[in-house]
Amino acid sequence: MPEVYKHSRYLVELVKQHLPLESPICGAEVGVWKAETSRWLLSQCGNLSLTLIDQWSPEPFKIDRNKFSAMAKQNNRPDVWAAWEREARANVAEFGERVRIVKQDFRAAAEAIEPASLDFVFLDAAHSYQDTMQQMLAYTLRVRPGGLVCVHDYGYPQPGYQVVSEAVDDFLRYFEMVPQVDPESWVAWWIAPQWRIAWTRGAERD
Ligand SMILES: C[S@@+](CC[C@H](N)C(=O)[O-])C[C@H]1O[C@@H](n2cnc3c(N)ncnc32)[C@H](O)[C@@H]1O
Repeated sequence: MPEVYKHSRYLVELVKQHLPLESPICGAEVGVWKAETSRWLLSQCGNLSLTLIDQWSPEPFKIDRNKFSAMAKQNNRPDVWAAWEREARANVAEFGERVRIVKQDFRAAAEAIEPASLDFVFLDAAHSYQDTMQQMLAYTLRVRPGGLVCVHDYGYPQPGYQVVSEAVDDFLRYFEMVPQVDPESWVAWWIAPQWRIAWTRGAERD
């Protein structure tokens, strides 16, 4: 059986507390690995359709800024990444059309998601300052006002990960917000604000 992590359980609680229980909801997980969190979300939230975004490639972990991650130990093992991808696909296969898998760099994958079309996003790809910041920049506007933006590993007590909190705090400073943080699972989250820019289809602005 796939593992159920503390952060996966916490995310399900958040989704159930803040998002509609009956009507359909759309979420995205950015950085999926073996899709254990995706599987838990889909199994616990029957009204959820989930986009899974992962490159399943060692390339991001060959970049110096991401080498502190435990995943970088596998950065010369494409076979390991291929096995993780197979495991991820198998873990969510039973959810059929509720699942959309996008095998791409998260920056490119964001371009295909309509602004304000998601009820929540869970950001958990590479954890350097730059990658964390770029995930927030790429995906926050994809979440509708009132939806949830969640970031993993805020305050995670391992060397290197302090930059996640720094990136989140720097990003939220622009919105005069502070995140809620679950100290058990290191999930930071906030409610997506009402944007001052008005989006229309095709990402044109007023
Ligand atoms: C920490 S794991 C994700 C764990 C998963 N969210 C969970 O809860 O089990 C990070 C994942 O991010 C992916 N990743 C890292 N950089 C990426 C990038 N630039 N684009 C897409 N995926 C990326 C990696 O392939 C890896 O599978």
